Amino acid sequence: MKTVTVGVLGSGTVGQDVLNLIERRKHIFDDIGVNVEVAGVLVRDVNKKRNIPSGIRVTDTCDFLQECGVVIEAMGGIDRPLEILHPYLRSHRSVITANKALLAERWDVLREYALDGNLYYEASVMAGTPVIGPMSTVLRASTFVRLQAVLNGTCNYILTQMEQGKEYAQALAEAQALGYAEDPPTLDVGGFDTAHKLTVMARFCADGNFPYRAVDVTGIEHLTLADIQDARQNGEKYKLVAELERSASSQGQGGWRATVAPRRLPETHALCTAGASRNAMVYEGEECGSLIFAGGGAGGMVTASAMVGDLLDYLLGFPGHVPLH
Ligand code: NDP
Ligand code: HSE
Repeated sequence: MKTVTVGVLGSGTVGQDVLNLIERRKHIFDDIGVNVEVAGVLVRDVNKKRNIPSGIRVTDTCDFLQECGVVIEAMGGIDRPLEILHPYLRSHRSVITANKALLAERWDVLREYALDGNLYYEASVMAGTPVIGPMSTVLRASTFVRLQAVLNGTCNYILTQMEQGKEYAQALAEAQALGYAEDPPTLDVGGFDTAHKLTVMARFCADGNFPYRAVDVTGIEHLTLADIQDARQNGEKYKLVAELERSASSQGQGGWRATVAPRRLPETHALCTAGASRNAMVYEGEECGSLIFAGGGAGGMVTASAMVGDLLDYLLGFPGHVPLH
């Protein structure tokens, strides 16, 4: 039996469930002949009560990373995780991350490691609903035409609650309590988290260097209960929608138009029928036709399922998610 030592950065909503799922999947690791050993978990506050398997070392220093074969990043933010991960990646080791903000905004540093297959990031878009995997592999054979997607669980939750008459502030507080929201939640309601995710996806189907700044972003903060009720009375729903398609005009990034904005859609639209609290994407390719992906897009265990799936890929020797060259 081979031992692989794993380091985990962060033990919040996602990190705790990653640690629990690693323990629960021990039999699968045994089946492939690997003993997964968690060398340590980086946190800010070592005294906080956590729901993680006993015996795992929780620390506020990074010294344990030296001994790790692979690192799972679930801490969030941009500068601090990059500071920790960059030397690690430079030493040709692999990183599994759910951090779409880091991927979208620091691609200048990370791209070369992604091209080498050392970055695994299925959880960064639509959490446990697999879209990065298909987009980085089989879907490449088909000429990409357009995608339209609902990618933010917090906004989805808020808009659904507002359809029932709940005030925006109350719905946002509930989404935060459920562990869906970013820190700060402006990233969600301002549309920036959706733009981060759209940027990550664009690098598989439009341009391997697609820049975050090329996304035109509008959030949901200005939507009122009256707007949402009016839509309902007309058989429509508001969704925060990410769109990517070829641009007919000379504007847009290299011939691509990327937007995030609230859209009023018929209740029968695939992005609405996917379910009130689910993320969804309609992906159109010339040869593959129109595909629909839908499922949980936020929450601890649904995200952990993608990250532990990435860990399994790493252990089996599959490369990470390689963008367009
Ligand atoms: P949380 O805020 O719940 O957890 C963050 C964890 O990281 C905490 O354990 C915190 O320590 C630790 N941490 C943060 N900053 C530092 C630091 N500077 N030094 C040491 N430890 C630090 O976040 P989530 O689990 O919700 O999210 C983590 C990542 O996963 C983010 O990138 C997020 O975008 C992404 N993600 C989240 C999803 C979700 O549904 N929540 C879904 C998909 C992706 P302490 O506990 O001591 O405060
Ligand atoms: N804050 C994000 C959301 C978490 O609400 O969708 C999942 O990426």
